[in-house]
Amino acid sequence: MQFEVLATCHTTRARASRMTLSHGVTSLPTFMPVATQAAIKGVTPQQVEGLGITLILNNTYHLNLRPGIGVLREAGGAHRLQGWNHNLLTDSGGFQLVSLNKFTTITEQGAFFASPFTGEPTMLTPEESISIQHAIGADIIMQLDDVVSSLTVGPRVAEAMQRSIRWLDRCIEFHEKSGKRDTQNLFAIVQGGLDPVLRDECLNEMIKRHDKVAGYAIGGLSGGEEKDIFWRIIRQCAEKLPADKPRYSMGIGFAEDLLVCVALGVDMADCVFPTRTARFGVALTFNGPLNLKLGKHAKDFNPIDSTCPCPTCKDGVSRATLHHTATHETAAAHAITLHNLAFQARVMGQARDSIMDGTFPAYLRRFFADYFGDAG
Ligand code: GUN
Ligand code: ZN
Repeated sequence: MQFEVLATCHTTRARASRMTLSHGVTSLPTFMPVATQAAIKGVTPQQVEGLGITLILNNTYHLNLRPGIGVLREAGGAHRLQGWNHNLLTDSGGFQLVSLNKFTTITEQGAFFASPFTGEPTMLTPEESISIQHAIGADIIMQLDDVVSSLTVGPRVAEAMQRSIRWLDRCIEFHEKSGKRDTQNLFAIVQGGLDPVLRDECLNEMIKRHDKVAGYAIGGLSGGEEKDIFWRIIRQCAEKLPADKPRYSMGIGFAEDLLVCVALGVDMADCVFPTRTARFGVALTFNGPLNLKLGKHAKDFNPIDSTCPCPTCKDGVSRATLHHTATHETAAAHAITLHNLAFQARVMGQARDSIMDGTFPAYLRRFFADYFGDAG
């Protein structure tokens, strides 16, 4: 990986950078859409590419269950399987195991769970996670981490943080021996819950592995904690993490959170929110979210946003049409998904442009005034 910081904001910690991976260049800050099962629900890879998006996320946990590692190897990896020729990041599976499978037990060796399809007992170890991510072939791969909900308190938070450090070492060792280091880039994930002392310990340890990792993620957040605590943890981590590696806040997707994270020094983020909310009929705009299922849109013949470059808005598909079809047509969900992905890309693209030309603070003020104003 090549990572170059191109500009930094004078009054915030925001920065614009360029990351070059095996499948091309991605400009940061960026939002990564989530293609859990090697597909972003409701849109084709060509449509995603058409929005200018160059980095998406797949999940190791899901791809390992279906189609499985045999099909992935035969397909030549997940890029080929899903027809995506740009950059790809895979999450390691730990977070999905804990959030989706209530029978998961964590031991020092790994995460133990019953396959949701066959009931078969299965063990996901750090080595196994990296091995699956090698078969998937993503440009960025994530360490297996021991994740607890951000609302967990007590000794389990410290245990999970310390285990995540030990699992990072196992991931590093397995990855180094594989010979895949030139094409696949391993990221560490900082844990430690909402406790600044635990976060600091984790940061110190993971920063010691600086030469062995390509970037750092901030995990264990966005689980229902208070906003100001979330911001403090992001600030603490982003401030301490080395400036010469990308920083990725995991599971963050509300536009206002993305911009606060960027202001604090974050370069990448992902979340299912924009695509999921589209399937519930909610379109994201610079004046706040629009629930197109509400009756007030029934006779509104304007597009979602007349300044939006997405195919839905450019084709002039009206709010009234989307209101009418949102309850019974999957095409409406597809149209809103495309728009929401374009919106996320514009929020981050405008952040990047304004960091480059020195106007990021003004962009922040304008964004927050519009987004939380009453114009929408
Ligand atoms: N997605 C959202 N949060 C997390 C996290 O803490 N760890 C991992 N692996 N994935 C996440
Ligand atoms: Zn649009």
